[in-house]
Amino acid sequence: MTYVVTDNCIGCKYTDCVEVCPVDCFYEGENALVIHPDECIDCGVCEPECPADAIRPDTEPDMEKWVAFNLKYSELWPVIYTKKDPLPDAEKRDGETGKLDTIFSEAPGEGG
Ligand code: SF4
Ligand code: F3S
Repeated sequence: MTYVVTDNCIGCKYTDCVEVCPVDCFYEGENALVIHPDECIDCGVCEPECPADAIRPDTEPDMEKWVAFNLKYSELWPVIYTKKDPLPDAEKRDGETGKLDTIFSEAPGEGG
């Protein structure tokens, strides 16, 4: 199994998750992060750290789409292991639905 980042990270990007990951398997896009499913060791420590509750285990229903999404972008974006400021609209965007189809950016973040 693996943990994956889901819709509610988009536009928030709090980055609390990256500091606790023992294997540095988070990757940074312009307005979201993903987890590399093949690098995640399923420790679960990142899940409760996310203020947006965006990190889920792939054992939950209907996670196939998110596993594929995380795999795709983890191979395109740079690794991130240092916490940064959240995006400016993080509080406003937290809980907004359908962000993958509206505001998601495929552009890479800065990483680091
Ligand atoms: Fe990293 Fe553990 Fe979260 Fe996987 S479950 S992304 S290994 S902190
Ligand atoms: Fe995103 Fe939550 Fe991490 S909002 S950046 S998965 S702390």
